[in-house]
Amino acid sequence: MKVPLLDLKPQYNSLKKELDDAILKVAESQYFILGPGVEKMERNFCDYLKCGYSIGVSSGTDALLVALMAIDIKPGDEVIVPDYSFFATAGVVSRLNAIPVFADVDPVTFNLDPSDFERKITQRTIAVIPVHLYGQSCDMEAIMETASKHNIKVIEDAAQAIGVQYKDGSYVGTIGDIGCFSFFPSKNLGCFGDGGLVTTNNKEFAEKLKLLRVHGGVAKYYHKIIGGNFRLDAIQAAVINVKLPYLDSWSESRRRNAQLYSDFFIAAGLAEQEGKTSFDSKNKVLLPKAVYKSGLRAGTSMTAGIRNYHIYNQYVVRVQKRDGLKEFLTKNNVGNEIYYPVPFHLQECFSYLGHKKGNFPIAEGLADTTLALPVFPELAKEQIEYVVQKINEFITK
Ligand SMILES: Cc1ncc(COP(=O)(O)O)c(C=O)c1O
Repeated sequence: MKVPLLDLKPQYNSLKKELDDAILKVAESQYFILGPGVEKMERNFCDYLKCGYSIGVSSGTDALLVALMAIDIKPGDEVIVPDYSFFATAGVVSRLNAIPVFADVDPVTFNLDPSDFERKITQRTIAVIPVHLYGQSCDMEAIMETASKHNIKVIEDAAQAIGVQYKDGSYVGTIGDIGCFSFFPSKNLGCFGDGGLVTTNNKEFAEKLKLLRVHGGVAKYYHKIIGGNFRLDAIQAAVINVKLPYLDSWSESRRRNAQLYSDFFIAAGLAEQEGKTSFDSKNKVLLPKAVYKSGLRAGTSMTAGIRNYHIYNQYVVRVQKRDGLKEFLTKNNVGNEIYYPVPFHLQECFSYLGHKKGNFPIAEGLADTTLALPVFPELAKEQIEYVVQKINEFITK
């Protein structure tokens, strides 16, 4: 059996007519950049995410960059980021000559650890970028409380988390000052190239973000501030406008697949329950846990019963002999990937910051043991069963 990590063709085939028509309309209009299709997309997201403003941009990376520009990050300012994320989260900070300050992550959710965030705050801290990794919300209550106590701006990196709801039902990306999304094709809502979105409830930020998107120009060739080319193409907006109504059902299918994995892993005796953080004879595979699924954490005011508590943009397990398993699965036609093999503090490009191995134990532990398995919506139950069988074969051989 063959199980790819991601296969986008079934989704395209199921919407082929709608998508082809939408793209053709753009071709016929010859209106390629921004314009009515992008504006329609922006209105759609304000409705879907229940936020005041949304602005289509050229990618998720540019969403983060333009968000930092909008809050006026200056050289030497410090921005706290989780040590474990996709490179863009930290890269954009350095690109503005600000300093990325790393904080360790939570061992269950792999998201920013709110207490380490608080520990890393200094007089120079201007912002924090919580990342809703793999499609699950950070502990936004704790993060927002600390940020507001220290007057720090919150830029949410929701690139992997479009449509994810926090425990009170609000959508991630609309909780902090600015939210950043990516429409990279492998995301739950992907376009046919690069694309992204910024969201905010703050009118001033919205106006500034719109200016920054077009080189800071108020009118053609009159530049109020220095921005860049962060514009979104009309074809990408047309694709997103077709796909958005299906997003929740695709995320639902991913949740079903994640549940199947958990059930199969537990039935195979490879795990006792979800969310374990250390290996032992009964937990050879550590399973992801959706912490806001139900009941939720003690001592907080939370509403259970939200639907999109996790959208599983990635389904990531932890195993001890990860690199060997990766090779074995690849040989057996099971797609897999390591998100991410090197935490930020050990990246060569950040060596100037002077960190060393051992500084961020949770992130380092994840980098050595995480493996993403196929979880895309159209996956069949038998394929998931096969993946678990193969993992069992490797671990018990
Ligand atoms: C957490 C995170 N942040 C930022 C980005 C950047 O998005 P893009 O690839 O659209 O530039 C990604 C995309 O991979 C991501 O996963």
